[in-house]
Amino acid sequence: MGHLITVATCALNQWALDFEGNLNRILESIRIAKKRGATLRRIWLLRPFFGGCVYFPFTALVHDRFNKKILNIRLIDRKNKGDTYLHSWEMLSIILNNEETHGILLDVGMPVMHKTFKYNCRVIVLNGKILLIRPKMYLANDGNYREMRFFTPWIQKRVITVPFGDAVIATTDTCIGVETCEELFTPNSPHIGMGLDGVEIFTNSSGSHHELRKLNTRIDLIKEATQKLGGVYLYSNQQGCDGDRLYYDGCALVAVNGQIVSQGSQFSLKDVEVITATIDIEDVRSFRGSSASRGIQASESPAYHRIFANISLSGIGLDADIGVRPDKMRPPFYHTPEQEITLGPACWMWDYLRRSKTGGYFLPLSGGIDSCATATIVASMCRLVAESAREGDIQVIKDARRMTGEPEDSEYLPTDPREFANRIFHTCYMGTENSSQETRVRAKELAELSYRSQHGYCRASSARPIFVSDREGPSIPPAWWHRCREPCSAEHPSSPKDGVSLPLRPASSMGPWKDHTCSACAWKCECGRKVGRKPVPAHPTRRGDLVTLRGYLTKYDCSSADINPIGAISKTDLKRFIAYAQKEFDMPILEKFLTATPTAELEPITKDYVQADEIDMGMTYDELSIFGRLRKIERCGPFSMFSKLVHEWGEILRPSQVAEKVKRFFFYYSINRHKLTTLTPSYHAESYSPDDNRFDLRPFLYNASWSWQFKRIDQAAEALDNLNNVE
Ligand SMILES: *[C@@H]1O[C@H](CO)[C@@H](O)[C@H](O)[C@H]1NC(C)=O
Ligand SMILES: *[C@@H]1O[C@H](CO)[C@@H](O)[C@H](O)[C@H]1NC(C)=O
Ligand SMILES: *[C@@H]1O[C@H](CO)[C@@H](O)[C@H](O)[C@H]1NC(C)=O
Ligand SMILES: *[C@@H]1O[C@H](CO)[C@@H](O)[C@H](O)[C@H]1NC(C)=O
Repeated sequence: MGHLITVATCALNQWALDFEGNLNRILESIRIAKKRGATLRRIWLLRPFFGGCVYFPFTALVHDRFNKKILNIRLIDRKNKGDTYLHSWEMLSIILNNEETHGILLDVGMPVMHKTFKYNCRVIVLNGKILLIRPKMYLANDGNYREMRFFTPWIQKRVITVPFGDAVIATTDTCIGVETCEELFTPNSPHIGMGLDGVEIFTNSSGSHHELRKLNTRIDLIKEATQKLGGVYLYSNQQGCDGDRLYYDGCALVAVNGQIVSQGSQFSLKDVEVITATIDIEDVRSFRGSSASRGIQASESPAYHRIFANISLSGIGLDADIGVRPDKMRPPFYHTPEQEITLGPACWMWDYLRRSKTGGYFLPLSGGIDSCATATIVASMCRLVAESAREGDIQVIKDARRMTGEPEDSEYLPTDPREFANRIFHTCYMGTENSSQETRVRAKELAELSYRSQHGYCRASSARPIFVSDREGPSIPPAWWHRCREPCSAEHPSSPKDGVSLPLRPASSMGPWKDHTCSACAWKCECGRKVGRKPVPAHPTRRGDLVTLRGYLTKYDCSSADINPIGAISKTDLKRFIAYAQKEFDMPILEKFLTATPTAELEPITKDYVQADEIDMGMTYDELSIFGRLRKIERCGPFSMFSKLVHEWGEILRPSQVAEKVKRFFFYYSINRHKLTTLTPSYHAESYSPDDNRFDLRPFLYNASWSWQFKRIDQAAEALDNLNNVE
């Protein structure tokens, strides 16, 4: 018969500081969870609220007399000013006083001041009373995360007369422990001690962002958490763009004894997604009982303080579980990297439009692969929107109506991706006097055959000859930039002039610009209809990661735009993505971008110029990529980089040659690093991200002579050269 508990967990698209919106999404998720158990009678919601700290993990344990549910929700808020503390308590008090939340065990994430120190806490609430405040024990403070800076002092006047600390919740039939984010990644995770002390259900409210090929790391961690220990693991994650460069990729999970039983979507436009699973808690008990040594360890482990919650998650009585069947184990689902590129940046770009209240994207096409990839991501976004609209997602339809300038009560449904693209996506061909007919035609075909985007000059202000005036002489790129920024008006409804070559003439001194030709500048352009705000340019840097690190770009021109969806994605991955999209989206035109003289497509001039880039830079792209990874991911200084490469390249280069290359890299790196402070925000797809000012907080001004370091390298290289000569 078993001892069945139905648990629910979810992924919510929460916005920082949107207290009411976040609350509504939480309530909606609780409603959905209730509906899923609705054939049964009473439902208890255990859970969620949100305060205002770095992450706002909200977890709800929902359960019904027969069909128990645990809902795991998280809420995010990354600004942690005094206001946030205040509003968090205000929200909590609304929850405490709301009858609807009674009979529910609530797990609310919020910042709490305790004895003058600030903590990122989970507050456990039942029937309008606080049972426990559980501070997060390990804070994420590296890479993209700066949890510690969010906690600013605030005088907490309220007296908390409840347990504060690391305790667990005992219900009448099981025991629940909470973990928060970073804690799972620490070697000695809290769930181990909790599990040995009899905790059977672990909830984890997480804020974990998307990186290509990373999901398996997370799923492995979650599986491992209960693989040896046994137990039920409920994982919830933020979903959507958190108003930042990161995309949080949902993927709520329920695992039992190291096996996945339920998995939510990783990329979705839904604001609220709830998954449920019915599990047999006796499975945990028999799993744990199967090993005597586990029992011995358990007897030695320190006991957690237990807080009693007068609630039962499972059915009472023999007939309670009739008709309810436990869910089966199933293998986790993973997307391929090319699917991840298709979906992740597309969802992020959709949220960007929603949150910035803008009306679409503007993208200059060069006929090269970078702008093509960006355009394809927009196409993917339109497909996702159409799919959601067909499924009747009210929020998506509402947002689409706003973007296209339709009144809220109109009949418009964005169910045709190409028709929708035509309304929100604007492209133009942007080349130089030397650009070939071929690239121009390719860009035009891409725009018209595939997306039916409004293609032309710059639809934003096509009534004015925006680029022509640049023909006369060298102009700095911001000139076109500013012109295109001019808001369009009702009198200039735009009539795209096709195929007019763009006379933008880059100053010849601007090395990178010459092969750049704005190949992948993307603008967000609101000129569509009736939307009166200024467009904001967006632009993916070509070869983002590599070139930027070496500093081979011009500040404020080719790096200027609103956003860069492909800045952290490698060229190899981009090509795989295009090949995938060609079939998946039925866009045969993409074939031309993949096959047509690949390098020339990357560098819109000629193949010789590509060579020139590498000569200009004094290093090849391959080398640059290696330097970049060593510097950024492995954090090598000059000497340790030399030491590594001398082994790695020992077969092909003499130590003194390696020394030359390393020194050259460090020289350019240090004189150009300041440029990275103004990079266009780029979708963070890899730990190797060019968005240095955000992600890599090392100084941007160095003494470029690296005098002592280079001396040491030279000494070592000389000694090694001599050694080799002797051999
Ligand atoms: C929750 O899961 C995340 C993975 O996204 C992990 O980093 C974190 O440590 C987990 N938290 C706990 C408390 O296990
Ligand atoms: C738990 O709740 C039930 C029903 O509300 C009540 O009868 C019982 O006394 C409570 N138990 C405790 C220990 O408070
Ligand atoms: C176009 O080609 C001519 C002749 O090679 C050259 O002088 C000029 O600088 C080129 N223009 C651009 C924008 O690269
Ligand atoms: C850089 O370091 C060298 C060697 O210590 C020194 O001579 C030089 O003045 C420094 N340059 C600057 C700008 O500080």
